[in-house]
Order: sequence, then structure tokens, then C-alpha cells
Amino acid sequence: RQEQLATIFKSATVIPVLTIERLEDAVPLARALVAGGVRVLEVTLRTPAAADAAKAMIAEVPEAIVGIGTILNADDLARARALGAKFGISPGATPGLLKAAAASDLPFAPGIATASELMQALAAGFNIVKFFPAEQSGGIKALRALAGPFPNVRVCPTGGIGEANAASWLAEPNVVAVGGSWLCPPADIRSGNWPGITAMSARAMKSLKP
Ligand code: 3PG
Repeated sequence: RQEQLATIFKSATVIPVLTIERLEDAVPLARALVAGGVRVLEVTLRTPAAADAAKAMIAEVPEAIVGIGTILNADDLARARALGAKFGISPGATPGLLKAAAASDLPFAPGIATASELMQALAAGFNIVKFFPAEQSGGIKALRALAGPFPNVRVCPTGGIGEANAASWLAEPNVVAVGGSWLCPPADIRSGNWPGITAMSARAMKSLKP
């Protein structure tokens, strides 16, 4: 399961963190990202429309690899699995969530920002984690410091990552992918600027994909 997650993250390079307010935006948004070469999508459980939005993307955009983000507890994890998500991501972790995720077959990345949080994730069997909030928690310097005692951990940083710094993060040996909301600005989603999102995605993939 960890290997499945590693494969998904590696194939992604960039994972857009999507907050979808209107269900009708889900499919055109996923199509716009896929058209730009961005296929691994994280739909956050931050809005009432999120679960149905993810379901619609899974049903209608088969090229997309849809995961669920902002998983806060075991119920969210079960919802993500039931709706057909390919992976789950959390901004943090609790003992209950780690236990549920360890018992589930859904590829899952808990969130960590400190050594102790990382140790709890490792103790539960998770060595691929989301580093969140990445820039705000000390950025690349903090990640390098964590890599010392934890050389086998692979990381997807998110939080404060954008066009200007994504390449520097991806150059770190323990970074498998970067996440962020920058490819899908809320204003572009609201106005249905799908060509703009496709163009931005294509530009990001061209400059970042190895
Ligand atoms: C996340 O949940 O990963 C963050 O909200 C993304 O952070 P960003 O908006 O700074 O990219």
C-alpha cells in the first residue's frame, strides 16, 4: 500500500489541492487539469460539495487519479474509501486516524510537521507523509533537518508552495511530489477559467516533471 502511494505520488510530481464549492465545477476542473497533464488530484473535504465532486470526477474523468484530502478522522477515511478515492491525505494525524488508516487498504499519507509527529506516523507504518504546512514550518531547511534522523521517509510538502518555489522543493532527494492550491485559484474556478487552468498546469508540468 505504501508502494502504491509512492507510485501515485511519483507519477504526479505536482498534486493540486482542490477546494470545490460548486458540484458543477468538478468535472470541467478535472478535465482542465488533465488536459494540462496534471492527473493526480486531491479533493479536500472542506466543502459540502466535496464528496460528490470527487465522485463525479471519478465517474466522468477516468484519466484522473482522484484522492481525498483534509481527512481528519476515521469517518472521513471511510468516506474517502467508499467513494472510490485512490488515496487519502491528511494535514495531520491523531492516534485514532493512524489506527484506522493502518487497518484500511486505502493508500494514505498522514500529515507531519515535527519529529515527534513523524515518529508517530512511522510507528503506525507510514513512511510517506505530507509535510504541512511546509513553508510555514521552516521550509526546506526544516525538511533537511528532519531527513537526518529519518533517512527513509519520503515526503509530499504542501503549504506555501507555488510556481516560484516548487522546483526547489522537488530537488530535495526525499521529496516525491509537491502539493498546493496554486494551480487552481478560487477566482479561476468561480469564473470557469478552464483554459487558464489548463495553461497553468501545462506550464507547471513542463518545467517540473523530470
Ligand atoms: C493543503 O491542504 O495542502 C494546503 O491548503 C495547501 O496549501 P496552499 O494553499 O498554501 O497551497
